[in-house]
Amino acid sequence: MSRCRLPPHAVVCIALTILRLTSGKMVPRWSEEFRPGCKGNTTTCINGGIDLTRFGFELGDGTSYGPNLIGWGNWQRQCHTNHSSNVRVEAFPDKPTDGMLVIQAGYSPGQACYNENAPPSVTDFTSARVITRNKAAFRWKGTPGKSTPVRIDVRVQVPLVNGTWPAAWMLPDTNKEWCLACGPYGDGWCLGGEIDIMEHINTNDYTISNLQYGGLANASWLECKEKIGKFRAKHRASDWNVISLIWDSTYMQFLANGKQYHKVTLGTWNTGAAPNNTYAPFDVPFYLIFDMAIGGLYPGYNIDSAAIAAGAARYNIDYIRVWDLVP
Ligand SMILES: *[C@@H]1O[C@H](CO)[C@@H](O)[C@H](O)[C@H]1NC(C)=O
Ligand SMILES: *[C@@H]1O[C@H](CO)[C@@H](O)[C@H](O)[C@H]1NC(C)=O
Ligand SMILES: *[C@@H]1O[C@H](CO)[C@@H](O)[C@H](O)[C@H]1NC(C)=O
Ligand SMILES: *[C@@H]1O[C@H](CO)[C@@H](O)[C@H](O)[C@H]1NC(C)=O
Ligand SMILES: *[C@@H]1O[C@H](CO)[C@@H](O)[C@H](O)[C@H]1NC(C)=O
Repeated sequence: MSRCRLPPHAVVCIALTILRLTSGKMVPRWSEEFRPGCKGNTTTCINGGIDLTRFGFELGDGTSYGPNLIGWGNWQRQCHTNHSSNVRVEAFPDKPTDGMLVIQAGYSPGQACYNENAPPSVTDFTSARVITRNKAAFRWKGTPGKSTPVRIDVRVQVPLVNGTWPAAWMLPDTNKEWCLACGPYGDGWCLGGEIDIMEHINTNDYTISNLQYGGLANASWLECKEKIGKFRAKHRASDWNVISLIWDSTYMQFLANGKQYHKVTLGTWNTGAAPNNTYAPFDVPFYLIFDMAIGGLYPGYNIDSAAIAAGAARYNIDYIRVWDLVP
């Protein structure tokens, strides 16, 4: 969806960029437009345009990531793969140079599920989970209390299919590849916190945003607390929507198509790993996750296998754009 491609636009773009800079607003930090095609490089680019220098995958039924993580910690039913049937870059039908990341669930009863460093299992559904861990992680800039916010925009379209759970979310960055939800404040959910930019389930007419935090040192996930906000889209949850997170050291703000619907302020969140640091756990870099679960504690198990088999369980991500909001 780049607006800065052709020369006539370039002039406008440069002008806009200068305006933005001089009026002190949004300074681009990182972005991914998911342009179709690998330009001949199949070493670092797969499935029609996924750049492996920027994105990785988490595979299987969760077993690879910890003994209690079969079903990814909450009894999800899918096997995550990196096959192009489950995850790829596709051009928009009417704009061949403009692409989107597609995560598409499949229904294949009784199929073997590949788990790295762990035995295979058997699952009925396939899907995908794309991450930027160790490749791109974000946080506000500056020092706690004297920071400038980061803004993360995702333009997404979710399916209205029972049993689906598409999400755009963040966990603390770590180089522990085989440890989910690990980070500077401890290993295991959710001492390190979790930022849910967007989640949607089933045929709901709304999406949610959420912060998860709390925990006690060495306690179970049951000690987690959360702060949920809803974006009600009436019959338009399945339209394209731009969901934004503005994250400063003292607040988190969530916007849909530019309009705020949820805000959480300092003093709300905490972590049992650093009880005296009011900025923790949201004062370290978090990486991005785009996935679609089938079944699980949140959507439940009323799964529309026929719709999934027919290809209707498609979660589309047009772009990810990250800015610094400077004064
Ligand atoms: C593909 O990208 C990698 C890493 O950037 C580079 O080492 C390699 O030479 C590239 N291959 C081609 C065919 O361009
Ligand atoms: C893709 O999945 C296969 C297992 O099906 C695995 O061996 C391979 O390393 C994966 N590649 C990437 C880039 O994740
Ligand atoms: C989805 O499930 C709900 C019950 O939870 C049901 O009322 C609805 O008809 C289902 N929708 C479709 C399209 O199957
Ligand atoms: C948490 O568990 C680890 C490993 O079992 C142990 O070393 C540590 O002392 C425990 N911390 C607390 C606060 O109980
Ligand atoms: C937090 O502060 C309290 C009160 O000042 C102190 O008693 C406690 O030891 C501190 N805890 C940690 C983990 O630093």
